[in-house]
Amino acid sequence: MNSEFFVDWSTQALARVEAALQVWVPMQAPAGLGEAMRYGVLDGGKRLRALLVQAAAEAAAATDTSAGRDAALRAACAVELIHAYSLVHDDMPCMDNDVLRRGKPTVHIKFGEAQAMLAGDAMQALAFEVLTPDQGVCAPTQARLCRLLARAAGQAGMAGGQAIDLASVGVTLDEAALRDMHHRKTGALLCASVQMGAACADIDETGPTWQAFTDYGEAVGLAFQVVDDILDATQASSTLGKTAGKDADANKPTYVSLLGLDRARHEAQSLLAQAHAALSRSGLPAQRTRALASLAECIVHRDY
Ligand code: IPE
Ligand code: IPE
Ligand code: MG
Ligand code: MG
Ligand code: MG
Repeated sequence: MNSEFFVDWSTQALARVEAALQVWVPMQAPAGLGEAMRYGVLDGGKRLRALLVQAAAEAAAATDTSAGRDAALRAACAVELIHAYSLVHDDMPCMDNDVLRRGKPTVHIKFGEAQAMLAGDAMQALAFEVLTPDQGVCAPTQARLCRLLARAAGQAGMAGGQAIDLASVGVTLDEAALRDMHHRKTGALLCASVQMGAACADIDETGPTWQAFTDYGEAVGLAFQVVDDILDATQASSTLGKTAGKDADANKPTYVSLLGLDRARHEAQSLLAQAHAALSRSGLPAQRTRALASLAECIVHRDY
């Protein structure tokens, strides 16, 4: 998983995303809002969603043109902005009430609840601004990227999944209901990251290559939250950079509470195999999909 290729590739991809976010997340927003936004977005996070966008864009050959590279970088930053906003709101007292994120006090602890709410709101809007530049990315690609991101972030995806999460405290969900919640609250945005990368290369949404990207995205998306549940139960806060043991304390249904650790780990492995199988079905040369293959390994074998 840490092949020389992947270390080089991910170092470069991360540097591009960090540099772009530094420019696009403003400091000069009114009344300290910029400072709260930059605190929540910059200097932290594994950036897995941004890496998935760029790996999918490369697999689909979007990055062979400068317009494709620009679209992929914008898509990578937009997904990270939506993700960062979801974390800021997820940590607020009315949701998970967390004080630690990415090894730092959460945004509402540092800046107050109202500013945290507004910083999240502004990050969400900024994601769509980043996707719709005056020039560089053609209008149909801009529209397609906005559609994919909006659907993954909204009521049918992340926000809807978060609503189910909050409504499920103390409730025993069956496996199908738990999978549905995880697919929405976390899987949708990770799958959209892969699809947006592919969309930068104009991949046809009715064809088998798109289906393979989608199958890969759904598998890694669900695997990601299964592993998040496992890490919450097994790791220390100092490793995670966020409070460990929150799910059990808050009485949240998770893969660990439903299946136990061993079966949850088995489920993550099985989803990893599904992700690799989807890449094999894509019809793309293995050379092109190797960053996606490595990212699936990282998502399942990470320890924070
Ligand atoms: C954490 O996501 C929140 C979930 C969706 C489970 P990440 O583990 O990707 O968080 P960062 O971006 O690396 O901090
Ligand atoms: C959060 O899930 C999913 C989001 C949409 C932010 P969690 O509540 O499990 O995420 P962490 O564990 O706080 O990062
Ligand atoms: Mg939560
Ligand atoms: Mg949380
Ligand atoms: Mg969690």
